[in-house]
Amino acid sequence: MRINTIWITGAHGRLGSTLVRYLDPLEAEIIATDKEEVDITNQNEVNLFIDRNRPKIIINCSGLSKRQECEDNPDKAYLLNALGAKHIAISSNRVRAKLVHLSTADVFDGETIHPYKEIDTPKPKTVYGKSKYLGEEFVKTFANSYFIVRVSRLYSRENNLVEKIIEQAKSGLVKVPKSRYGSPTSTYELTKFLLSIMGTNAYGIYHASCGGTCSFKTFAQKIIDFTKIEAEIEEIRDSDRVEFEPAFRGMDNYFLDLLGKNTFKSWEDALEDYLRKEYGYGA
Ligand SMILES: NC(=O)c1ccc[n+]([C@@H]2O[C@H](COP(=O)([O-])OP(=O)(O)OC[C@H]3O[C@@H](n4cnc5c(N)ncnc54)[C@H](OP(=O)(O)O)[C@@H]3O)[C@@H](O)[C@H]2O)c1
Repeated sequence: MRINTIWITGAHGRLGSTLVRYLDPLEAEIIATDKEEVDITNQNEVNLFIDRNRPKIIINCSGLSKRQECEDNPDKAYLLNALGAKHIAISSNRVRAKLVHLSTADVFDGETIHPYKEIDTPKPKTVYGKSKYLGEEFVKTFANSYFIVRVSRLYSRENNLVEKIIEQAKSGLVKVPKSRYGSPTSTYELTKFLLSIMGTNAYGIYHASCGGTCSFKTFAQKIIDFTKIEAEIEEIRDSDRVEFEPAFRGMDNYFLDLLGKNTFKSWEDALEDYLRKEYGYGA
């Protein structure tokens, strides 16, 4: 029997579309929308949708996540990442829905070498980070029942991170940005966590990423080793893609550890699982 109605916003985006693929429609009724169906920048539209569909859980995957675009167009970034989150937070109370709000390691400045815990003070430096942090603050202020889930670097078929490395490896050379560290997280692991937490009332902020931290080079090397594709890796200076990405985005799931509920695998094990399940490597 299906127990819940889950509304996924930003369902055409990288994380939203992966969640729609992973969530079992037999366990929950999934309502997936993107900006064409519900524009999160319009409070009335969000209210109307919530009143009509009465979701029990909302997973907010909408927003502007391209860092360069946020810098070029801060108004759009604040409208989507901050005010859009506020609209959803306010509306969630109308039907007593739980709100799962996705956030990011970019709320920190990246000037450390220790994985960030929930007790560390956010200090965003980019428009993306600042707008996401404001979105978190609005969720905390306006939603009655929320989970703010901060994630480091996500990968899935939908966002092509691993796939691009495999493609380059097949041509013999993988180019990765130099000095960029994170906790690569399989969207499959994140989905398992979201499913485990959203039925509970353990509200609050959580860091939710696979265990450990690595450089882009180590991540690419792991893919090459596991797939047994012969390739060299070249570290390149900051490309456009990472210009506004904090250098260090390692995450520590400190609160989940304290509660004994950290189910995330290490980044290495999760990556092996992903390469096995999605592509049959390592079989
Ligand atoms: N991907 C990661 O590595 C990562 C890591 C940490 C945290 N996160 C967080 O996870 C969430 C999802 O990230 P993502 O990578 O999946 O982002 P994404 O691919 O950019 O998806 C965002 C979605 O929101 C849609 N959208 C834009 N304007 C909208 C509006 N007015 N109303 C409703 N929907 C609108 C976008 O549509 P258009 O693209 O057509 O405009 C897009 O489909 C974000 O909050 C992000 O900060 C992501």
